[in-house]
Amino acid sequence: MHLIETRDLTYTYPGNVTALHDLNFVAPRNARIAVIGSNGAGKSTLFKCFNGIFRPTSGSVLIRGEPITKENIREVRKFVGIVFQNADDQIFSPTVEQDVAFGPTNLGLDEETIHHRVEEALKLVGIEDLAGRVPHHLSGGEKKRVAIAGIIAMEPEVLVLDEPTAGLDPQGVHDLIGFINSLSRQYGMTVIFSTHDVSVVCEVADYIYVMNRGRFVAQGSVEEIFLQQELLKSVRLDVPVLPKLLRSLKDHGVPVPMAYNYGDAERALLDSYRRAAGDEGRP
Ligand SMILES: Nc1ncnc2c1ncn2[C@@H]1O[C@H](COP(=O)(O)OP(=O)(O)O)[C@@H](O)[C@H]1O
Ligand SMILES: [Mg+2]
Repeated sequence: MHLIETRDLTYTYPGNVTALHDLNFVAPRNARIAVIGSNGAGKSTLFKCFNGIFRPTSGSVLIRGEPITKENIREVRKFVGIVFQNADDQIFSPTVEQDVAFGPTNLGLDEETIHHRVEEALKLVGIEDLAGRVPHHLSGGEKKRVAIAGIIAMEPEVLVLDEPTAGLDPQGVHDLIGFINSLSRQYGMTVIFSTHDVSVVCEVADYIYVMNRGRFVAQGSVEEIFLQQELLKSVRLDVPVLPKLLRSLKDHGVPVPMAYNYGDAERALLDSYRRAAGDEGRP
């Protein structure tokens, strides 16, 4: 059974704007899933269907195999934690610590557990030192971390991040990649995130949905998606620099390995360089 599944999900906004057309999406346990698409593709609308903020116009959303109902919506929201694109909408307490504690407090946990969870979440997103600060005086990137910590502290099984890299500086993006990976590896969390930053996708995603005008136009592994350079261009997405460069070198007859993220590329290039040097060099 999938943690989240949509079947022919269609969503039409009042005013007759159909933002999602017949979407079939699955999130298996412990996957890191990217939904990529340019502005207006429907990413945020899709995510709002994952925890019942929006109800399907037709088709269905299944959480652990069950449709979302009035009776189970509290459980669903405990299970699927969503961090929205605009952190300001999600932050409202006088201190960072209180803000991160808000969710766990609402879950009715005891004080010791709350304290422990808040501490862990702040550490995980790297903002322990901001605990006593006023959230509204923080930078955009810091606020985003506060919002993420607040959701992580509720320990959802599925963490949904809508455009988590928007507005982050390069170090912020690097840190985000790090903690998405550690949430997945250490805590077995399932992470679904949207972005139009394709280089981030190469570092983090196990599986990718490419979205355009409310439809999935492709889905597959990093390798499967980023070889389709024409398709990506046609939906106004970039091809990541690394596979683009390696592909072009290959096309020019340079015997380079294919790789999609920095670590893999470095290893593969060093290996092939050493092999070539070894073959030529010593007698
Ligand atoms: N409240 C709304 N009312 C009507 N149309 C909307 C509303 N919100 C979004 N849309 C439309 O739905 C489509 C998908 O939007 P959205 O889900 O925000 O895309 P993305 O998150 O990929 O940028 C767009 O065409 C957008 O204009
Ligand atoms: Mg959006």
